[in-house]
Amino acid sequence: MKKIVVHDKTFVESIPEARLLEGIHSLAARISADYEGQDMLFVPILNGAYMFAADLVRALDIDPEVQFMRLSSYGGGMSSSGTITPMLDLECPVEGRHVLLVEDIVDTGNTLQWLREYFMDKGAASVRMACLLFKKEVFQKEVPPAYFCFEIPNQFVVGYGLDYAERGRRYRSIYTLES
Ligand code: IMP
Repeated sequence: MKKIVVHDKTFVESIPEARLLEGIHSLAARISADYEGQDMLFVPILNGAYMFAADLVRALDIDPEVQFMRLSSYGGGMSSSGTITPMLDLECPVEGRHVLLVEDIVDTGNTLQWLREYFMDKGAASVRMACLLFKKEVFQKEVPPAYFCFEIPNQFVVGYGLDYAERGRRYRSIYTLES
């Protein structure tokens, strides 16, 4: 079993690279079919989504506009604070466009709900989210992500862009905190 150490914690490989890419390719096929002929604005949410977004966008059969967004840091360790503000905002019009938000992981759903309202207020024609990982059992909001690759239990994960206190992002697989 592959293990990594990030800061003071040990993590065990839980979703290997090949399975991640398989999941991403089938998600990309669904998204491409759903958005065919539409003006898609593809919005990765930094920092965590950068690897997922790079693989997802390359697997699409459509050619969206890609614009990045970064939200205020959301707690440094394994818990989140709940206050959200944009640190890097979009530089393009949103009105009348079909926005696909791209996130690494949906946990409580606070970020997802905040983003959805933010883009609807800007006049988007539609707002959906594609996330790699979904911790469904701790999700607290009404509307779940429209697209997700893997549902995972409520355990802290790193790798493939996701961090523990800003380290561990570079790994190709997803690793779960050792219990
Ligand atoms: P939510 O707003 O509670 O849904 O949390 C979403 C954000 O929390 C993600 O974009 C991540 O930055 C962070 N997060 C939640 N769970 C994890 C995890 O297991 N590992 C790394 N980051 C996580």
